[in-house]
Order: sequence, then structure tokens, then C-alpha cells
Amino acid sequence: MVVNYSSAFKKINDLGFLDIEIDPSLDLFKEIEKLKKEKNAIILAHYYQEPDIQDIADFIGDSLGLAQEAAKTKADIIVFAGVHFMAETAKILNPNKKVLLPDLKAGCSLSDSCPPSLFKKFKEKHPNHLVISYINCSAGIKALSDIICTSSNAKRIIDSLPLDQPIIFAPDKNLGSFLNKATGRNMILWNGACMVHELFSLEKIIRLKERNPEAHFIAHPECEESILKYADFIGSTTELLKYSQICTSNLFIVATETGILHQMKLKSPEKTFIPAPPDNACACNDCPHMKLNTLEKLYLAIKYEQPEIILEEELLETSRRPILKMLELSK
Ligand code: 13P
Ligand code: SF4
Repeated sequence: MVVNYSSAFKKINDLGFLDIEIDPSLDLFKEIEKLKKEKNAIILAHYYQEPDIQDIADFIGDSLGLAQEAAKTKADIIVFAGVHFMAETAKILNPNKKVLLPDLKAGCSLSDSCPPSLFKKFKEKHPNHLVISYINCSAGIKALSDIICTSSNAKRIIDSLPLDQPIIFAPDKNLGSFLNKATGRNMILWNGACMVHELFSLEKIIRLKERNPEAHFIAHPECEESILKYADFIGSTTELLKYSQICTSNLFIVATETGILHQMKLKSPEKTFIPAPPDNACACNDCPHMKLNTLEKLYLAIKYEQPEIILEEELLETSRRPILKMLELSK
């Protein structure tokens, strides 16, 4: 490996990863396995990660599964192959462990759509409201929230509250309006959205379905209402994966980030999965943030134990309570 070891630790560049050349002849899978054992590290990966990362991960899951796994791990180091808010959640749950994110720039458009300073003012305009925030938000928003939820447990958490309890739901307006219908509530919604799930083309999906009438159209609840209305099944990434296994159809049109197709194909090799088409010819249903992580960056992160998630003590404390409440309500 071609490395200037002395300066390695200084070399987190402005793109948020270690700027070190890797010997192309190295077998990164073997090296990562070795480092994992040596350092008692665990790799947690979201379904939207590239296939190589999913294949080397110790645990692959949706946001809830990953938070639950982070809460119970005995590893000393957590390498989080996902986006910043997910690694941050793992750090909040493990303040004394080292939590690494292969690329610190792996953010989230949905989380960015809800800055804490603006949300604080919004919250002040609605006193007596309980704040339920989708886990896709910054630690600053979590600290302003009463309960965190994910797309897997949101309905259950909302249903556990008295019907007359006024609620603010942030930051995803699409998930929020889906939940308002599913729970018969009128939660006040923050106007945020995910850049990946907002770009599907209903017109193209309808045409695709007309050409393949046997296909089941399945969608993540971060999609717009017009898309969800047309779906045969709506669920979190884990729920979509389970549905694709138990449903008798052999053909699925999948409206979420394309990374999930890797697990769908692995679990049901005999079935066909078509990514739902976006509005234009771009690869918009690849999350550009999730895809910043690569196997190479993951290798460097575990080897040099950087880049690390660092949060202020007070923020760690204030943002932990609503996450623990979620985990308690999800048992
Ligand atoms: P889930 O993992 O809860 O399905 O959410 C998908 C997502 O957009 C994660 O960024
Ligand atoms: Fe954020 Fe959307 Fe990417 Fe998920 S898919 S990390 S919600 S931008």
C-alpha cells in the first residue's frame, strides 16, 4: 500500500475522507475482515449502500434496525455505512464508543430541509404540541423533539398517543401526510422532503405497469401522495424487502432508492425487480449522499479510525431522550 503513514491522520480532506492511495492489488474484503477482528469493530450498513458494502457488513437494515443494532452492540468501534444522521444516532446511543462514517460529506437532503434554528421558531408558534420527528434529521432537531420515529414504527408510535394530542411532525411532509391518513390525525407538518423519493414519474410508472400488468408496484412512504395512491404496497425498506419475499408475484416495480434491489435479488433470485422510473433520464433514484461511501473509503476509515463522528456533550444528552423513547415504544 502506498501510504505516507506519518501524515495519514492529518489527511481527512475537504471531501471528508482520508486522502490516501490504496494499493490496487489489496483484497479489500480480506483486509476489512482482518481489521474488524483486530479492532473489535462492527460494520452497520443501510440498504441504500452499494452492493460491496452490503456484502461485507455485519448488519444490513433500515433506519430502525440500524438504531436498534447500534443500541445493543458490544463492539468498540462502529463503522456506519450510511448517512450522517444515522451515524450521529449511533454516536448518541454510544457516547463512549468510536463511531466512524466513511465519508463525512454523506448528508441527507431531507435532514438538510429542516434547520434547527427555523424549526425552533416553528415549534414556538405551536405550543402544546408534541414533536414527533422522523429519524432523518440532525441531532439539533432530535434535541427539539419529544419522540423520534422511522418509517417502520411511525404509525405505531403515533397510535400510542391520545387522539386529542396535538402533534407536529417533522421533517418529511410526504411521510407526514401519509401518516395523517393512516392514523386519522391532523398533525402539523414541516415542509421537508427527500430529493430521491420526490422524483418518481407517475406517468412513466403507469405506462410501465400497463406494459407489465402482473407487476406489483411497491413504494416507500417518503414518495409523493400521487405515487403512494397508485402503490400496491407501501412500507419502509425492510417492509418492502419482506413484501417482495412473501408476495407471490414474480415482478416488482420498486419506488425507493435502488440500493435495496441488491437484497431483493439476493433473497428472491427467481424474481425480477425494476427500479421505478424517475422524472428524467438521470440516475436520480440513486441517493447521491448514500453513494458517497465506497468500499475503499470504508477500508481507510476502519484502518485509520477516521473520520469520526464528534458531538458536543450537551447535544449528545438532549438528543438521546427522544431516541430512547422510540426504542422503548418499538419493543
Ligand atoms: P428507512 O430506512 O426507514 O426505510 O428509510 C429510508 C431512507 O430514506 C433512509 O435514508
Ligand atoms: Fe436522505 Fe433521501 Fe438519501 Fe435517504 S434517500 S439519505 S432521505 S436524501
